[in-house]
Amino acid sequence: MGRDVIVACDFSSGQKTLEFLDRFGEKKPFVKIGMELYYAEGPSIVGKIKERGHKIFLDLKLHDIPNTVKKAMSVLSGLDVDMTNLHAAGGSKMMAAAVEGLTRPDGKRPILIAVTQLTSTDPETLKNELLIETPMPETVMSYAENAMRSGLDGVVCSPLEAEAVHKRCGRNFLTVTPGVRFADGDKGDQKRVMTPEEAKKAGSDYIVVGRPITAAEDPVDAYERCLREFVD
Ligand code: C5P
Repeated sequence: MGRDVIVACDFSSGQKTLEFLDRFGEKKPFVKIGMELYYAEGPSIVGKIKERGHKIFLDLKLHDIPNTVKKAMSVLSGLDVDMTNLHAAGGSKMMAAAVEGLTRPDGKRPILIAVTQLTSTDPETLKNELLIETPMPETVMSYAENAMRSGLDGVVCSPLEAEAVHKRCGRNFLTVTPGVRFADGDKGDQKRVMTPEEAKKAGSDYIVVGRPITAAEDPVDAYERCLREFVD
């Protein structure tokens, strides 16, 4: 599978998103649609962006009992997205049910990846609130391994974890990595970042890039810079 750049379209409305994508003309970046946009616009926004020829990562992070997740995934599968995700914390049975629900009658399905521990969860929260005594890095790797054994294709992780995930779960297990910034760019609220070039060296399969592209003076130029640094 080839490396690619996924543009996080964290806009509050479909109109803003489509206006943003208009700027790319014939270039059709892989687009991430998150909860804000999906809940504001509903499933029709997926169809509208697909129609324009973009691949879509639908980032809804499902987490519920296996039967509910299976049925929800089967609905998402009908939207013809290219990638979607869930929380590994839902457990192996939930993840296996998700794979089943997502698989179409012809045996094909979108790429399914797992969120391990959210990057907003710090080690203190892990220990004191979630009551998980295992240190964060081992928790993340162990969740990644559960995802792999449940038949998922990869995990969302920091590019700093990509190498360790591949070591533990195999080179073909995908690492989809946010937290990417240009060397001369603003980090914003991201703490542990890598440049697209560093993420490539670290073995990331997909980088998810939001503000360095969406807030750039010239988003198309910023996107092309990501492609040059990460894909070429
Ligand atoms: O604007 P920025 O490049 O920071 O956007 C990164 C995208 O990746 C956002 O949509 C954010 O919600 C998502 N993300 C993240 N860190 C995670 C998981 C998802 O930044 N651990």
